[in-house]
Amino acid sequence: MCGILGYIGDQRKTVDVLMKGLSRLEYRGYDSSGIAVIEDGKSRVFKSKGKLSKLKTKINKHSPKGTLGIGHTRWATHGDASQKNAHPHISGGTSVVHNGIVENYLDLKNELKKKGYKFYSDTDTEVIAHLIEDLSEDGLDFEDAARAAFKKIEGSFAIAVISDKEPDKVIATRRFSPLIVAKGDNENYLASDVPAILPFCKDVIYLEDGDVAILEKDSIRITDIDGNKVKRKVQSINWDPISAEKCGYRHYMMKEIFEQPRAILDTMRGRFSEETGEVFFEDVDPSLFKNVKRIVALACGTSYHASLIGKYMIEKFAKISVEVDIASEFRYRKPIIDKNTLAIAVSQSGETADTSEALLEAKERGAKTLSITNVMMSKIARDSDGVIYTHAGPEIGVASTKAFTTQLVAFYFLAIYLGRLKKQITKKESIQMIKDALSIPQLIEITLKLDNQIKDLAKEFFTYRNFLYLGRGINHPIAFEGALKLKEISYIHAEGYAAGEMKHGPIALIDENMPIVLIAPGDGIAYKKILGNLQEVRARKGKVIFLTSDPHAPEIQGNVDKIIEVPDCPYMVSPIISIVPLQLLAYHIATCKGTDVDQPRNLAKVVTVE
Ligand code: F6R
Repeated sequence: MCGILGYIGDQRKTVDVLMKGLSRLEYRGYDSSGIAVIEDGKSRVFKSKGKLSKLKTKINKHSPKGTLGIGHTRWATHGDASQKNAHPHISGGTSVVHNGIVENYLDLKNELKKKGYKFYSDTDTEVIAHLIEDLSEDGLDFEDAARAAFKKIEGSFAIAVISDKEPDKVIATRRFSPLIVAKGDNENYLASDVPAILPFCKDVIYLEDGDVAILEKDSIRITDIDGNKVKRKVQSINWDPISAEKCGYRHYMMKEIFEQPRAILDTMRGRFSEETGEVFFEDVDPSLFKNVKRIVALACGTSYHASLIGKYMIEKFAKISVEVDIASEFRYRKPIIDKNTLAIAVSQSGETADTSEALLEAKERGAKTLSITNVMMSKIARDSDGVIYTHAGPEIGVASTKAFTTQLVAFYFLAIYLGRLKKQITKKESIQMIKDALSIPQLIEITLKLDNQIKDLAKEFFTYRNFLYLGRGINHPIAFEGALKLKEISYIHAEGYAAGEMKHGPIALIDENMPIVLIAPGDGIAYKKILGNLQEVRARKGKVIFLTSDPHAPEIQGNVDKIIEVPDCPYMVSPIISIVPLQLLAYHIATCKGTDVDQPRNLAKVVTVE
């Protein structure tokens, strides 16, 4: 978590670059923020507790001038969310911003205290500033002092540092936390993530673990920790800068919900042939699937829910057994993995610590590895033998929406691919499946037209304190995901259950104060069974919101309080449609309650702590 940023150059106002970049990193944490800019050879530091807007107000009063600076947006780990713990941390003329954890900070802190250094914060980061300052006092130049300090630090981190003694460079390093550097014309940048630099330039270098980057106005040098030069590829980013803007929407989440038809098209683009029914993945070698007897999917949160649906798809089309594990549990239960197991790590950010560690655990136990992720060159992507990028574009809203539906589409195509590879589906069948997938963007467009109706529905329901979501078959994980969306942005307690489980416990909760969202698209066996659940709920006076593709079915007339009508569609793609109105419902309930939709309390978009 936390976002870091750095700029050096004379093409723009440093403070503007830092503030704009930080606003695009705020999704990584918003407990506090800060910047340091070197003005006339002296660092000027501004920090504020809370959202970036607070920092903006402070800076507007005394905007610093200067041609280099660093910035930070924080998700608190060591030390509470306060002004004193906000970054940058300074020691003498050294200012540091940091994302990650310094594991040996206590030992370092004690050593530095003995030397007379005073600590002003409760963070682990402050040791880095003192350490660099101390090494410079010993006679090392800024670059050597920074490298020597980085060598002493244990843990996972991305760090950027500037020094008043050499006000013509920004130095940065990373180990297990993401960091990119980006090249402009007479200006250079560094950032935790691509959206921060998108408005300014497109040529980026993804630093690798142990790299140290030295940014000067007209050059970027990269060395290893000992100062030996290393070469890294410059990659051109094809994301549109607009993709990380709100574009007239009140919240990123709403924009991202409405972007889903486009995002899904991008996930599918260039990956299939309608004539042959074949599916292609550019970064996956078919040999990866040789001798694969079972699959283990590893993920957290929304990505875990996508994986539960992926299980249905792969088991149905490819007849390969799939287990889905909560990544944070996987490592601690001695999982049975062998060389015939394929581990699939599913992660929007590609950085989630639990998922990343679970992937490495599976690898160590001999599994082949594949990842489904949205972020190019992310840690999880780089650690996998193959990768399927979802190409959803930057997702800024903390509540995941388009990342989820594009993960489902990626799973759907993977299921077709494996089905053909393992000869479990015919060419004719896969052609039909691809046709079904191609109808998804249009079906979502139709579903999005429910927006106003769902807004009205939210007005009626936002005062309830609890919700129950029930689904069956391939839509049962949609109950989990619908409930997660509601609780994380509206703070209303919500539970998702497989509908058949209701009578095994949750039925005790049902009374006239409990709205129940029944997810029942299509008319198959899952639908028929849910009608039974509907009767059970009605008999206990529960309030029913019924999601269906057949609103005129006689069984539901007079038995439900509200109907959400979704378009009829093939069963295997139905979850990709059913989740859309539930995203809208959570969004509108949250806005009725006045909560912070894009930056809900206590959450961060990227969870890099276990
Ligand atoms: C919920 C949400 C989280 C993430 C989870 C995993 O809306 O976004 O539950 O799904 O933190 O994140 P990734 O997919 O980046 O590994």
